Amino acid sequence: MSHHKVRITVNGTAGEDEVEARQLLVHYLRETRALTGTHVGCDTSNCGACTVMVDGRTVKSCTVLTVTADGTDVLTVEGLDEEGEMSPVQKGFQACHGLQCGYCTPGMVMSATGLLLEQPDPDDDAIREGIEGNLCRCTGYDMIVDSVRWAAAHGGAGTAATAHAAHAEGS
Ligand code: FES
Ligand code: FES
Repeated sequence: MSHHKVRITVNGTAGEDEVEARQLLVHYLRETRALTGTHVGCDTSNCGACTVMVDGRTVKSCTVLTVTADGTDVLTVEGLDEEGEMSPVQKGFQACHGLQCGYCTPGMVMSATGLLLEQPDPDDDAIREGIEGNLCRCTGYDMIVDSVRWAAAHGGAGTAATAHAAHAEGS
């Protein structure tokens, strides 16, 4: 089995690791970087639980080979907080009861953050479109849409994600 050296920055921390050629980014984040906030819900690119931001764009990390992320800057749900304070989207999910079991929540939060980076003031249709790649089995989505709308009115994508996207754009 071939191994490759990768250098990937995750949530602002640089890392250099030997990874198997077949390893998926979601497993690298969870197992090598011990960041288990990024969930695996299906492994077939349907559920969106594994959504992270790579160089400022949201991706399903179960569709990315770790070796192809060499040299990138990754933001996961653990990197969204602002000096210990939750980001606006995280606060929105709390304020508007956007989660029940919480399994889909990290991916939802990342997709919603990516949406607000692109569209700071989305209407409900745009929010539903922005999270259409993310499945939730328990909320019925209405409260998730409310959560994203709340976030749009209280700081949007938040400073950590905005800085990440700006850094990726400038690099
Ligand atoms: S685990 Fe990646 S889309 Fe479901
Ligand atoms: S809150 Fe349970 S799957 Fe969404």
